[in-house]
Amino acid sequence: MGVNAEPGTTGKLLDVRDLRVNYGNIEALHGISLDVAPGEIVALLGANGAGKTTTLRTLSGLLRPRAGTIAFGGQAIVGLPSHRIVALGIGHVPEGRRIFGGLTVEENLRLGGYLLRRDAAALEQGIAQAYETFSRLRERKDQLAGTLSGGEQQMLAIARALMLEPKLVLLDEPSMGLAPKLVRAIFEVIARISHAGTAVLLVEQNARQALRIANRAYVLEGGRVALAGAARELAVDNRVRATYLGGSAVQGGPPDAA
Ligand SMILES: Nc1ncnc2c1ncn2[C@@H]1O[C@H](COP(=O)(O)OP(=O)(O)OP(=O)(O)O)[C@@H](O)[C@H]1O
Ligand SMILES: [Mg+2]
Repeated sequence: MGVNAEPGTTGKLLDVRDLRVNYGNIEALHGISLDVAPGEIVALLGANGAGKTTTLRTLSGLLRPRAGTIAFGGQAIVGLPSHRIVALGIGHVPEGRRIFGGLTVEENLRLGGYLLRRDAAALEQGIAQAYETFSRLRERKDQLAGTLSGGEQQMLAIARALMLEPKLVLLDEPSMGLAPKLVRAIFEVIARISHAGTAVLLVEQNARQALRIANRAYVLEGGRVALAGAARELAVDNRVRATYLGGSAVQGGPPDAA
């Protein structure tokens, strides 16, 4: 500990301060601040267009913020190219599971481990680990990824991001378009990832399930953090219930004062 101690060395894995992001002249994020601790599941909720995907794309270096700071493991990462950010330990599973449909399951996993290509043993170990976690993928390792079911493709997208053993994985709507049974399977996988020590920043429309597995959550509205707190508390917050959980206000609460 010296005079050079950097901000962000506070036990936070990810520390985002006052992030502002523009598309052209239009500001989409108006000063987002959030943090994620090692191994934590943090949900990022909000309506369509609130800025969830923009936040994740900025964290992984695909968009450059106009202002604000992002520290990962105490290191400032704004301005680094996305491959450097991946190498530092941030994996990203984008919206709409972008797997390579014309390649097999195993070829997709090898591509996910591209940074390990000079370390054949580590690559094989990563693939073995992926099959350990996702037995469905082992059974289908030679199948073309484009012919997998939607849920299997999502598993593959997640498995591919885990190939480099990230410290943090960014998941953008992993349950989108999946039948309820597969949604449950995906949420179980996310909980397992976190138990194994990887932190998760989880963007979800499925707020109820996300709050069930998350430690904490942030609710974005119009490019700002409108609410933040423990997932357990947000799950019973009247505003969250009314807007995102499709439920009425908690019974017995005060009448609407408006
Ligand atoms: N490439 C782009 N060019 C211009 N505006 C964009 C672009 N991408 C997103 N936006 C705008 O930025 C705002 C935030 O979009 P973003 O995709 O981050 O929302 P989101 O919270 O992920 O929504 P959804 O739940 O629909 O995925 C929206 O108003 C959107 O129209
Ligand atoms: Mg989005």
